[in-house]
Parts: sequence; structure tokens; C-alpha cells
Amino acid sequence: MKDHIDSLNRQFSGSSAEDVLSWFLTEYSGKIAFSTSLGSEDQVITHMVASLKRTLKIFTLDTGRLFQETYDTLDITQKKYGLFIEVYFPDTARVEEMVRTNGINLFYDGVDNRRLCCHIRKIEPLERALEGMAVWITGLRKAQSVTRSAANMVEWDGSMNIIKVNPLIHWDNETLSNFIREKKVLLHELHSKGYPSIGCMPCTRAIQEGEDVRAGRWWWELPDSKECGLHKKH
Ligand code: ADX
Ligand code: SF4
Repeated sequence: MKDHIDSLNRQFSGSSAEDVLSWFLTEYSGKIAFSTSLGSEDQVITHMVASLKRTLKIFTLDTGRLFQETYDTLDITQKKYGLFIEVYFPDTARVEEMVRTNGINLFYDGVDNRRLCCHIRKIEPLERALEGMAVWITGLRKAQSVTRSAANMVEWDGSMNIIKVNPLIHWDNETLSNFIREKKVLLHELHSKGYPSIGCMPCTRAIQEGEDVRAGRWWWELPDSKECGLHKKH
């Protein structure tokens, strides 16, 4: 598998995000899924998929703790682009047990509790969403954080047993904002209110000018622990 991944990365070095998307959509038709958080990178990918007039499974993970603006973005995105976004929820019994044992706001009580919450509310539903799929498309970029600087365009995700493709991996902030402006990509309204990176409501705050783009995610933790487990540290 490693050789296959290496050769795909060589094949796509220098390719545009659209070309990479297009190739995987053809090659893995019916076996390819895109996870969207409705944040700006994911809205760019949704825009590209709609422009390419191609279909694939698009899904979002509703942790039960999202912002109302995220649900609004989901709703208007489906209408604007004429796409269906599947919504996956966590297992009710596991959430109830976790809250009974650890409290409703457990994530503020240490990294272990926070990771447990992310595991139950995000990772387990992600495993179900990716079942039977061969390729997983995400909006990861190297420029987003220290934990992502070594990520590649194409990777093998051993915990999900799937080929993970990050078409925007090499995009810097400027490339992203130029694309959004030129193509008039539909954006989550919190981006214009100081939230460059948006996750669950209790774990996301607005940032100040000059702060890192992910400074508002799990802001009470150190930068190198700030991954929910959806994406392994590189
Ligand atoms: S996170 O791991 O810190 O939450 P981030 O918000 O940067 O991730 O998003 C990175 C990628 O993870 C997104 O482009 C998307 O593919 C996926 N992702 C993150 N959150 C969700 C979600 N709630 N639903 C679906 N996909 C998500
Ligand atoms: Fe729970 Fe916060 Fe993780 Fe959302 S981001 S799943 S609320 S710990």
C-alpha cells in the first residue's frame, strides 16, 4: 500500500486540486466519500464538486454540540449547490453514559475527557460514515497547524483503513481566500465574525488579530494536543 500511496503522490505533485478530485472521483466512483464540517476549505471542495458536476457521498458529523450557524450553512449549501449532505449522529446510549459519568461539559476537565467526547461524538460516527468506502476526501491543509505540517496529498489512514485524499493540502491562506473571492464560494457566516476554524460550539471561540488560525479551537489546551482524533498527528 505504501508504494501505491507514494506513486499517487508523485503522480499528483504539481496537479491542481480540481484535477486530483476529478481523478479520484472517476477512479473510485461509488467508493469515495467527502467529510464536510461546513468550514471554508470544505465549502471550497463542495463548490469544486458541484462545478465538476460529479457525485459522491458527502457527509457531516453532527456531534450534537454544533453552532446554529453550522446547521444554517448545511441547509443553504444543499439548496445552493443542489447536493445532498448525509448527517451522522453519535450513538445515543454512549453519549448518555458519558454524560452521566463525566458531566455535560466534560471536555473542559482535561485532555482525556475531551478526547473521549471527540471519540464518541465524532470518531465512531466517522467510522460508520466511511464503512464500505475506499477513499476519504478531506479539507486538511498543512498551513492550518503544527500538527498538520507533514501531511500529504494522499495518505493511508491505518485507523480507518482507507486512502485519505487532501486536495487542498498545499494551499496557503492567500490561495484559499483568492479562490473563495473569485468563485464566490458560499461561506459559513461565523468566518466573518473572527472564527477562521469552526468546530463544536463549546470548544471553539473567536480569535484576535495576529493569533494562529486554530487558536480558537480547544483554546485551553496546548497546540500539540489540539487534534480530535479524526486526523492523526503527522
Ligand atoms: S478537526 O479535526 O480539527 O475538527 P478541522 O475542523 O480542521 O478538523 O477540519 C479538517 C477536516 O476534517 C475537514 O476538512 C473535514 O473533512 C473533516 N471534519 C472536521 N469536522 C467535521 C465534521 N463535524 N463533519 C465532517 N467532517 C469533519
Ligand atoms: Fe466534544 Fe468538544 Fe470534541 Fe465537540 S469538539 S466532540 S464538544 S470535545
